[in-house]
Amino acid sequence: MKKILFVNACVRKESRTRELAELVLSRLDGEVEEVNLEKEALKPLTRRTLNKRMKLQSDNKLDDEMIKYAHQFRDADIIVMAAPYWDLSFPASLKTYIEHINVVGVTFAYADDEPYGMCRAQQLIYVTTAGGPIYSDELGYGYIRELCEKFYGIKDTRYIKVENLDLYGADVEGLMNEGREKIRNMEF
Ligand SMILES: Cc1cc2nc3c(=O)[nH]c(=O)nc-3n(C[C@H](O)[C@H](O)[C@H](O)COP(=O)(O)O)c2cc1C
Repeated sequence: MKKILFVNACVRKESRTRELAELVLSRLDGEVEEVNLEKEALKPLTRRTLNKRMKLQSDNKLDDEMIKYAHQFRDADIIVMAAPYWDLSFPASLKTYIEHINVVGVTFAYADDEPYGMCRAQQLIYVTTAGGPIYSDELGYGYIRELCEKFYGIKDTRYIKVENLDLYGADVEGLMNEGREKIRNMEF
């Protein structure tokens, strides 16, 4: 049974991003494990927590509770990441999650000063919805794609976006239907 990791950075109860991500999940075969970032309420690394983590790394105690998110991410077969388009990017909870999973020796390592990936997943699917146009894909999806390529060793990243949902007079259902249709026709 494949392990599907659902990294859920959606916040609103009626989140449209989550709805689309759930449609993606329904198209995948495997067991879904969700990390709900709202519930996890992770904290950004501080001097204390960073020092603690560096000590764990130097003592080779990588099985500590503090590093569990990195292990979970590394061990997933496929990753679905859902994040609304906030402030031209994504919610801070997702950036904080990335601080927690970017652990050298778990999700990636270095050889000759070059990072290489240690993650099992071959594919990461990034889902977002936006109130207006997404001016630069590089600030949200592009950043995650770069992490996948440079750090995690995940070669196949997919991007699903629905834009302009909050514009005056927007045909929200029409735009969402286009997104749903795209997902139904995708091959994962
Ligand atoms: C805190 C916050 C920041 C947002 N920033 C942007 C933005 O920079 N550009 C934009 O087009 N829409 C922005 N929006 C609108 C959301 O992108 C849009 O409503 C999106 O569909 C929300 O996703 P959801 O339905 O999954 O919550 C923002 C909304 C919130 C609540």
